[in-house]
Amino acid sequence: DAVDSAPAIVIGSGYGGAVAALRLGQAGIRTLVLEMGRLWNNPGPDGTVFCSTSAPDGRSMWFRNRTEAPLATFLWLDVVNRDISPYPGVLDRVHFDAMSVYVGRGVGGGSLVNGGMAVTPVQSYFSEQFPTVDATEMYGTYFPRARSMLGVNTIDRAWFESTEWYRFARTSRKAAANTGLKTTFVPNVYDFAYMRREADGTATRSALAGEVIYGNNHGKRSLDKTYLASALGTGNVTINTLERVREIRRAADGTYVLTADRIDVTGAVVETKQYGCTYLFLAAGSIGTTELLLRAREKGTLPALDASVGTGWGTNGNVMLARANHVWDTVGADESTIPVMGIDDWANADNPVFAEIAPLPTGLEHWVSLYLAITKNPQRASFTYDPSTDGVKLGWSAAQSAVSVSMAKKLFDRINTANSTIYRYDLFGAGSKVFADDFTYHPLGGCVLGRATDDHGRVKGYSRLYVTDGSLVPGNLGVNPFLTITALAERTMARVLSEDTAP
Ligand code: FDA
Repeated sequence: DAVDSAPAIVIGSGYGGAVAALRLGQAGIRTLVLEMGRLWNNPGPDGTVFCSTSAPDGRSMWFRNRTEAPLATFLWLDVVNRDISPYPGVLDRVHFDAMSVYVGRGVGGGSLVNGGMAVTPVQSYFSEQFPTVDATEMYGTYFPRARSMLGVNTIDRAWFESTEWYRFARTSRKAAANTGLKTTFVPNVYDFAYMRREADGTATRSALAGEVIYGNNHGKRSLDKTYLASALGTGNVTINTLERVREIRRAADGTYVLTADRIDVTGAVVETKQYGCTYLFLAAGSIGTTELLLRAREKGTLPALDASVGTGWGTNGNVMLARANHVWDTVGADESTIPVMGIDDWANADNPVFAEIAPLPTGLEHWVSLYLAITKNPQRASFTYDPSTDGVKLGWSAAQSAVSVSMAKKLFDRINTANSTIYRYDLFGAGSKVFADDFTYHPLGGCVLGRATDDHGRVKGYSRLYVTDGSLVPGNLGVNPFLTITALAERTMARVLSEDTAP
């Protein structure tokens, strides 16, 4: 007894969901998007849509009493996190035994909270991860399409070299050069022309006001401003917010029936809804999609799902760390939150690492160089369904994180030796932890392309059921993932719309 039905339903409005919604809408297919987070469009009492990073409130995190920022401390002091009141905030940190995963919540998913780095992977490594995907077509058609749709742009080189806002990146580049390492500029979806106006004082500051992980009030081309705006513009797409899909089953006629809880801003379930559709697109992210499919297989609502659903998950080898520079190597009191440069040692076959030069904007000179290292960690983990909680457990262990750490350490030991510098011990909690290896920004896998699905994201065992998000990526990509997720979703949608939905 479905109360609402649509030809197509998309679960989640991050990259995979936004691409699916736009392409379905353009094809004239009425599409409903179900998103558990809120729509971030109207200002709070302070006049801004997102709260600030320095004084976060309930808007910062998904139903928390206290914020859980990646950098827990500064000079070992608990000065970073704040008590907040529970609210469907924009950033979530999903905790598993030995690993926690940061994800965006809201219309636009991860695009609302991420650093905007839009990186095209090295083609040879892409082919290693996706041996059955036609790389020529990806690099000739789908990566360019994704870059253009997402509004990818690059920083003006002359401005980069001269502005105080990127002194931190130039200082890290110098340390890398002293080590004989290569650095590379990284494109971004943050509008650099807008950032220039922020610096000139003619536009309201966002990237230059510390905003990023709790949302950017200006400048960021998040999905709600790109793909999703176009999707709504087709007139065929509707987005329902604060609705969390819990269960998926298949009706006797082959259509899909979903159960979703609608919550209010206190988190209380105010309604449980049933939806029906012919075509179902899973785009709830690596964690969300994998959980939905694993629960469906284990509870027997979609029993024919492949045994590989729930496997092949990785952290993209993420490790965060920081170095202390010499007093004369200043990073500047002013730091833009938008990263534009990485240390590219991926070609080093003994120890492949790509390290993003990350900002640490505090408004004070602190001599810290912060990095998010992406290592070629081959470790993978599986999820298991836990009937006692109706949730999933992740089998990732601390020993598996240690593999990422040893790779990051090899690279940064070299950098420290060449520069006679040391690590910072005060940023990741009371234990003087140097390598933050217990969280990832880049959850990947769980429903891997070509294993849990066919080579185009069609879920094995069922027809008209698709995965379009980061769960397709087999655990490691070597670069920040959203551009690849977007390009793969474009590839899937092109195929599905030409082969599966024809009348
Ligand atoms: P994504 O997570 O974007 O979207 C899934 C959506 O589904 C979410 O909106 C979620 O609320 C919703 N959902 C989940 N379960 C649901 C359910 N049961 N019912 C309804 N809705 C549900 N990447 C990059 O390339 N460059 C970068 O600079 C960064 N930086 C960065 C910083 C930070 C702080 C984070 C947290 C992440 C990044 N990333 C990044 C990673 C990037 O954001 C991430 O890879 C993508 O958002 C993943 O896209 P997906 O489409 O897979 O899911």
